[in-house]
Amino acid sequence: MTTVSLPTRVLGAGGPRVSALGLGCMGMSALYGEADRAESIATVHAALDAGVTLLDTGDFYGMGHNELLINEALRTAPAAAREQALTSVKFGALRTVEGAFNGVDGRSAAVKNFAAYSLQRLGTDHIDIYRIARLDPDVPVEETVGAIAELVQAGHVRHIGLSEVGAETLRRAAATAPISDLQIEYSLITRGMEAEILPTARELGIGVTAYGVLSRGLISGHFAPDRALAPGDFRSLSPRFQGDNLRHNLALVEELRRIAAAKGVTVAQIAIAWVLSRGEDIVPLIGARRRDRLTEALGALDITLDAGELAAIERAVPADAAAGDRYPADQMAHLDSER
Ligand SMILES: NC(=O)c1ccc[n+]([C@@H]2O[C@H](COP(=O)([O-])OP(=O)(O)OC[C@H]3O[C@@H](n4cnc5c(N)ncnc54)[C@H](OP(=O)(O)O)[C@@H]3O)[C@@H](O)[C@H]2O)c1
Repeated sequence: MTTVSLPTRVLGAGGPRVSALGLGCMGMSALYGEADRAESIATVHAALDAGVTLLDTGDFYGMGHNELLINEALRTAPAAAREQALTSVKFGALRTVEGAFNGVDGRSAAVKNFAAYSLQRLGTDHIDIYRIARLDPDVPVEETVGAIAELVQAGHVRHIGLSEVGAETLRRAAATAPISDLQIEYSLITRGMEAEILPTARELGIGVTAYGVLSRGLISGHFAPDRALAPGDFRSLSPRFQGDNLRHNLALVEELRRIAAAKGVTVAQIAIAWVLSRGEDIVPLIGARRRDRLTEALGALDITLDAGELAAIERAVPADAAAGDRYPADQMAHLDSER
């Protein structure tokens, strides 16, 4: 392995410097059907080798499976790559034995309990960025963030992040402790955070780690309308992947494909490059589960979109062009960012 460096970006006023693309590892353990373990680990190794330094996970992705996978990938990576890697971990989601989501727990004692288990599974002595996946509506954000701040004081966590919270929660959290980044869905077809949340994050010096940049594969250019989805695949429940919504959304992808073809790049690369173009404070997380997808995604870093190309992309996919909500109704209800 030859670890090289990619372009980097800094998360927030006091956050870490990370590669301009991060690797989101969720799909290697959950939500998008079966993943090949050996290929998943090879993908993490290839990402580290290419210079990716940010690995995003959640303790509930496969109920610990994803953290154990990252542990193995880091243990078996060359020391130089391992030392550069930063872990971004989400916690708080409660699961049933059957795997259903069963609420969220942001109480101080729970935060410390989640962290103890994550450190053990990851096999590390600290987590680089720690965040609750969804705001606990029954616990003031000050308590949850305050508990992570105590973990920072104790050296178990380096930075505090947030996930899918709105502007008011951002302000309350930032008044409690320094926040490195907000993780939130952001793509050509998910632009809700542009109105109030992004300006607030910028005002407060909070960076953004953007997920769903390919809208979970929908705007990757690889999603076929007749694709068979495994039981439990998030996309079999997502409004954007159903019936007429799916047909409408894939028609938008064909518009993007024309623009991508004219530039000699792929649809996924255009979609990722567009998010990269939205500001130096935004770091897209790429949900690649295979090395070929990773290579494609990293190619977006070589693309510069000029004003004419950006305008053509916006014409092809206007801000509110998508059909269907980004989560099923019961999950939309947990999004502080959508209130
Ligand atoms: N904070 C939160 O609430 C939250 C929520 C969700 C995710 N996340 C984080 O964000 C990360 C990324 O999210 P995501 O996986 O939903 O986003 P995504 O990058 O929009 O979608 C990933 C899916 O797109 C498909 N794809 C096709 N071409 C690709 C390419 N060149 N590169 C990468 N993927 C390609 C893959 O599906 P196939 O493999 O099926 O082709 C892959 O599973 C997650 O891994 C997780 O760490 C955070």
